[in-house]
Amino acid sequence: MKQLMAANWKMYKTRDEAVQVANALVNLVQDKLTSNREVLILPPFTALNAVSKALAAVDDFHVGGQDFYPESEGAFTGEVSPGMLQDAGARYALTGHSERRHILGESDEFVGRKTTYGLANGLSVILCVGERIEERRAGHVEAVLARQMETGLASMPPNTPAEKIVLAYEPVWAIGTGEVAGLEEILQAHAFVRKKLQLLCPAIANEIRILYGGSVKPDNASAIMALDNVDGVLVGGASLNAESFSKIVLA
Ligand code: PGA
Repeated sequence: MKQLMAANWKMYKTRDEAVQVANALVNLVQDKLTSNREVLILPPFTALNAVSKALAAVDDFHVGGQDFYPESEGAFTGEVSPGMLQDAGARYALTGHSERRHILGESDEFVGRKTTYGLANGLSVILCVGERIEERRAGHVEAVLARQMETGLASMPPNTPAEKIVLAYEPVWAIGTGEVAGLEEILQAHAFVRKKLQLLCPAIANEIRILYGGSVKPDNASAIMALDNVDGVLVGGASLNAESFSKIVLA
């Protein structure tokens, strides 16, 4: 399975800005991207189709949505469905990002419902999990990850192929703070996520990609990528600029 280098652009960039950065990124990495890596860009919904068109002919570059609602259509003001994301060119989507859990108030159960729905309706889903600083200080990292994974993957559709489900370990206290988790902390958390996957979905557990996210930068990406059970990164701030993200992609 290829390592996945993902850019989460959050609520940044107009269509023109997004296409410009996507094109610049392709120019910087296309000839140097090793065959064991692929790139994913998660633009805001409004720029998704434009970025998808810009990347349509580029191998190993994919586009995804940052969120979706678990219905095909209906009276859900402000929401978009997995089908609409795919219509705009998305192949992947996030569920359970910490900003949706903690700013938008999404529950573990809702994240699980979305994960199931997205997988059953054609998307590759990146389920994000991670503890808050007070949970880490209280020694509850594994309990939090276990709970988020159990509810997040509770009704994974049978026969989901390993490449369609991705886990992202993102300690909440490291997101957007410049405070990256220590290598030992990442190693331990990823080993735990792998162990938990082996219990929850043994047939595909060892093939599932586990990404690290939280203040990944050009200068720490290669050390993080070298760790056991790190199969990619999910990058926010440092992915907004083509040059900086290109260094991470090639780290
Ligand atoms: P960050 O964000 O790289 O800015 O910490 C990561 C994320 O939210 O996925």
